[in-house]
Amino acid sequence: MAKVSGIERVKSGVKGFDGLVGGGFIRGQSILVCGMPGTGKTIFALQFLYRGAVENNENGLFVSVEDDPEKLKTYGKGFGWDLEKLQKEGKLEFLKVPIDHIGYNIVETITRAAKKIKAQRIVVDSLSALNINARMFSLPLKDQPDPTGVLGRDKVLKVAGYAPFEDVSQFTYLFINRVNDLGATSIYLTDSPPGTELLTKDGVSEFACDGVIQMQLNDTSKNVNRTVAVKKLRGTEIVPGANLLKFTKSGLEVGEFKAFY
Ligand SMILES: Nc1ncnc2c1ncn2[C@@H]1O[C@H](COP(=O)(O)OP(=O)(O)OP(=O)(O)O)[C@@H](O)[C@H]1O
Ligand SMILES: [Mg+2]
Repeated sequence: MAKVSGIERVKSGVKGFDGLVGGGFIRGQSILVCGMPGTGKTIFALQFLYRGAVENNENGLFVSVEDDPEKLKTYGKGFGWDLEKLQKEGKLEFLKVPIDHIGYNIVETITRAAKKIKAQRIVVDSLSALNINARMFSLPLKDQPDPTGVLGRDKVLKVAGYAPFEDVSQFTYLFINRVNDLGATSIYLTDSPPGTELLTKDGVSEFACDGVIQMQLNDTSKNVNRTVAVKKLRGTEIVPGANLLKFTKSGLEVGEFKAFY
């Protein structure tokens, strides 16, 4: 972590990236990483946790819906990251969320896993996969019947403390809020819908999160180019525009954008 102007910045762990966001994320922020399949979202997030644990002594929790933890560890090996060892040392934890348990208390299990290792970094891979299965999950409502201001009051009061979610926007807002309550710096991955300018399918997570990062894959017949662009980061003067994102032997790296025609 680094302090500039009294604000504590959390390093992304991706070389060349922090310069785009004033030195890093602000501690406790929620960051949405969106992009089409294969743009590098999962590796970016895994690297955020790996480097956080190894270089910043910040423990991390990887919540996955899509990838099995064993697969994630294998991907990590490709970059020389020993994720298994970090897990054994209690610095990393993996939580696979089932999508076939009706009423699964997802925030409770995330809270338990995060507390177990005192996670300061949390990744959710992916918000879009959770959204598709939103009706399977129950989210805790605390202190008030309608904490987000978007829930139908009648619906909430019917279910002593828990709300079933038929509306993806409600689920998304409340889920991000509840995970943020844990105080960790969090990265949410989400799919961008193909063939549109839209960042997300749910249309609300880009507003619910403090930061938005867009990853793109530009493949023409001659060139394949990955780019990363910071769309917003609250409390920070960002460097806008697309930057080259490269895979190296030790992970992702941000470089100068080069025209590819
Ligand atoms: N050295 C490398 N190691 C691993 N993946 C690489 C490497 N070079 C390129 N890739 C590509 O990067 C992609 C992996 O990125 P990642 O899994 O992070 O994408 P993603 O955005 O999470 O995709 P999805 O939306 O499908 O989950 C793969 O398609 C893979 O081919
Ligand atoms: Mg992925």
